[in-house]
Amino acid sequence: QMRTGPAQQSTVCPYACQRRTTTANKNKRFTDALEVLVEYHELTEIEGPRVAYSRAASVLKSLPWTIESMGGTEALPCVGEKTRTLIQVTGWYYSYIVLNISDQEYILFTSVFGVGPKTADKWYRRGLRSFSQILADPDVQLNRMQQNGFLHYTDLSRGLSAAEARAVEAVVGETVRTVAPNARVVLTGGFRRGKEFGHDVDFIVTTAEPGRENSLLPLIMGRLEEQGLLLFQAHHPSTLALKKIPCRRFEAMDYYSKCFLILKLEGSRVQGGGQAVPAGRGWRAVRVDLVAPPIERFAFTQLGWTGSKFERDLRRFARVERNMLLDNHALFDKAKNQFLAAVTEKDIFAHLGLEYMEPWQRNA
Ligand code: GTP
Ligand code: MN
Ligand code: MN
Repeated sequence: QMRTGPAQQSTVCPYACQRRTTTANKNKRFTDALEVLVEYHELTEIEGPRVAYSRAASVLKSLPWTIESMGGTEALPCVGEKTRTLIQVTGWYYSYIVLNISDQEYILFTSVFGVGPKTADKWYRRGLRSFSQILADPDVQLNRMQQNGFLHYTDLSRGLSAAEARAVEAVVGETVRTVAPNARVVLTGGFRRGKEFGHDVDFIVTTAEPGRENSLLPLIMGRLEEQGLLLFQAHHPSTLALKKIPCRRFEAMDYYSKCFLILKLEGSRVQGGGQAVPAGRGWRAVRVDLVAPPIERFAFTQLGWTGSKFERDLRRFARVERNMLLDNHALFDKAKNQFLAAVTEKDIFAHLGLEYMEPWQRNA
């Protein structure tokens, strides 16, 4: 059986992309506490603690055993003194952070779709402490995204089950087949990693006809609107043509055509989903993201949008260990001064000299 022996610990690799991390997290009580700290530090300008706690949480998620005490965690990579203290006094430390009122309000504000740390900070500085105060303040100007964030707050903050995600997949699939029969739509994001719960459903839509990917999302949104299913849309057209292709600037954000949506999901579409939808209404609001890259960029998009800290560490591994640059568009070998082509995700892992990891092993 798995024991927390030193020999076993030394086998824990330092990069998340070298570890197989399924959704079966054996150290949830610690990683939940760590993720509260990560969320809190996302609201500050200082990056160090956020990255440190985030990496520590990733390591704990990958362990095939449950940590029982601080002893025996010395040899784990990325687990520093503060995390070890948290492991020792998890309940206390966790409560201390969560009970800090101003942090709670920050986190509450940023839980609204369209509200980032800057807006949350602005509201907090104005003395606003609750949703009702924000909504009643005549000086607060909400943009369209934030208005919809508040309007659908109860539904959106509940997240989605895997059954609801499958229902969304069926709706989006039917819609795409109607307006673009030659297009292909695949699930990505957390539900591709096999998560049972998520805050949205992410899809990649693509077509073999060059250039046509840029007209797909408006067609899809138009059809969703016709069906009365489109509650909100923010479309960002592709800026790829404005850049040198392939892009030489490697960035966190990508240049593809994408849209952030709120859709109406009818309860009747959810398998066994009576309780998924508020009684008497018959539907609930759900967040859906669509991205439409050109077909030759599909593998890079798929790897990037499958997400989690696995993907962030892949980029760091490429840069630090391989002298390569990886983003959602391309992989560039700096020593050879050339781009490395990929048709599938496996090609990218091979270029990086990494063992292939299935999507459900990327829940770092
Ligand atoms: P959930 O919280 O359950 O949805 O987990 P998730 O892993 O699916 O997270 P999320 O949907 O936020 O992100 C999944 C991936 O989509 C990320 O890793 C990004 O690569 C990509 N992504 C999400 N939002 C954006 C965005 O605004 N721009 C770009 N370029 N990519 C995004
Ligand atoms: Mn997602
Ligand atoms: Mn998303």
